[in-house]
Amino acid sequence: MAFETIAAEKKDNVGLITLNRPDALNALCDSLVNEMAEALDDFEADAKIGCIVITGSEKAFAAGADIKEMQGKSYMDAYQEDFITRNWERVVSCRKPVIAAVQGYALGGGCELAMMCDFIIAAENAKFGQPEISLGVTPGAGGSQRLTRFVGKSKAMEMCLTGRMMDADEAERSGLASRVLAQDGFMDAVMETAAKVASMSRPVAMMVKEVVNRAYEMTLSEGVRFERRMFQSLFATDDQKEGMAAFVEKRKPEWKNR
Ligand code: CAA
Repeated sequence: MAFETIAAEKKDNVGLITLNRPDALNALCDSLVNEMAEALDDFEADAKIGCIVITGSEKAFAAGADIKEMQGKSYMDAYQEDFITRNWERVVSCRKPVIAAVQGYALGGGCELAMMCDFIIAAENAKFGQPEISLGVTPGAGGSQRLTRFVGKSKAMEMCLTGRMMDADEAERSGLASRVLAQDGFMDAVMETAAKVASMSRPVAMMVKEVVNRAYEMTLSEGVRFERRMFQSLFATDDQKEGMAAFVEKRKPEWKNR
């Protein structure tokens, strides 16, 4: 697919989206989020794709929403178009696993986009922050809520009130990033992880994503009940039979994705 503000490619079973506005450090403008949504729709519909990766450049994952594009909006503009909704949040409704591969700046909407993904792999030079307060606004794409759930109130509050950036080590230590990887060979290592996810049974990977995400939305006992019912339902699938038979027969499973 030909896009102007992103690149989208299929590498075996992985769909890769590279944000591509180098002159604006991949600031998220309307056309970028619309193109990203179109690419996500395509990856979601393609049965071959088992995992999606969103990345930026070595310097910036994304330096936030496009300040130049939004600066002139009135309250009625923002309210009536429901600014930062629709395609801005398309990634949240993806059923396939989505990995954020963050090098350089992930600020404001960039940090929020990374947090909408299922997990974040950070390069050593990654820097995360919610600097919106310096622009006279609060975070607007979920940062105040998701960052707080990831790193706890104290750190989230400090970052949102001061605009301080968190480096990759701090991000991993505080649970924002799942791992920090060397910059050298970063994307190869991320794609290896994505290929591993894509090699699993498609429906089971989607269900794993669903059960983990319930932890954010439910009480513990309701979440465990949901997980238990999902687990039990998998005994009706071909892939549970195949996965367990392959273990017993000491061979690799051949998923039917059924
Ligand atoms: N929107 C629009 N343009 C941006 C941008 C943004 N968020 N971030 C960077 N750019 C542009 C700069 O204006 C500059 O363009 P020009 O060359 O035309 O001036 C270009 O990208 C390069 O940026 P810098 O010269 O500033 O690069 P730097 O290396 O000196 O600094 C930086 C890098 C610290 C990330 C700095 O660019 C910066 O602070 N950017 C803004 C970060 C920010 O405030 N993000 C939050 C946006 S609001 C938001 O996201 C709301 C929400 O919750 C959804």
